[in-house]
Amino acid sequence: MIKEMNVEHLNDVCHLEDILFTSAWQYKDFLYELTENPYSNYFVYLIDDKIVGYIGEWITFEQAQITTLGVDPQYQRQKIATKLLEHAIKIAEDKQCEIMSLEVRISNEKALNLYKKLGFEIVNIRKGYYQDNHEDAFLMIKPVGGNL
Ligand SMILES: CC(C)(COP(=O)(O)OP(=O)(O)OC[C@H]1O[C@@H](n2cnc3c(N)ncnc32)[C@H](O)[C@@H]1OP(=O)(O)O)[C@@H](O)C(=O)NCCC(=O)NCCS
Repeated sequence: MIKEMNVEHLNDVCHLEDILFTSAWQYKDFLYELTENPYSNYFVYLIDDKIVGYIGEWITFEQAQITTLGVDPQYQRQKIATKLLEHAIKIAEDKQCEIMSLEVRISNEKALNLYKKLGFEIVNIRKGYYQDNHEDAFLMIKPVGGNL
């Protein structure tokens, strides 16, 4: 089940974030997104009340940008990320977005496969985008809202 993320979810989300990312967002980063950023849309995926995945996107006018996506390693490869991403796409479409974008590490094969499968295309490389190891990012985009 997908639910809007709220502050009560943050300890569990941060726990997953620490496991999944080398440069993890901190509690305060998520708190800002939930309580202060007017453009943010964050969701969790629950199985029997346990948070097993989450996604964030910013929606500004006609553009949506995926900010984060993670699935508990014990629940990966069960289409949870696919469902979260499809949900984020639907929210973007409902808000009249025309284009969705994201950045992904060029070495992140799992995520690249996922995004390609859902119709995202690589349009650019952002050199040294990641601060921790200066890895490059692929910028990927997908037209949404029937804007094909
Ligand atoms: C990337 C991630 C979100 C995928 O989550 P998931 O729930 O396992 O993904 P799904 O089950 O929806 O997989 C959909 C598709 O993604 C690709 N994919 C997912 N896991 C993969 C893997 N281990 N190896 C290769 N491709 C993979 C496949 O194309 C898969 O389709 P298939 O199972 O029919 O072959 C998850 O691995 C994760 O949390 N990784 C760490 C955090 C991260 O990198 N987030 C993305 C930041 S940009």
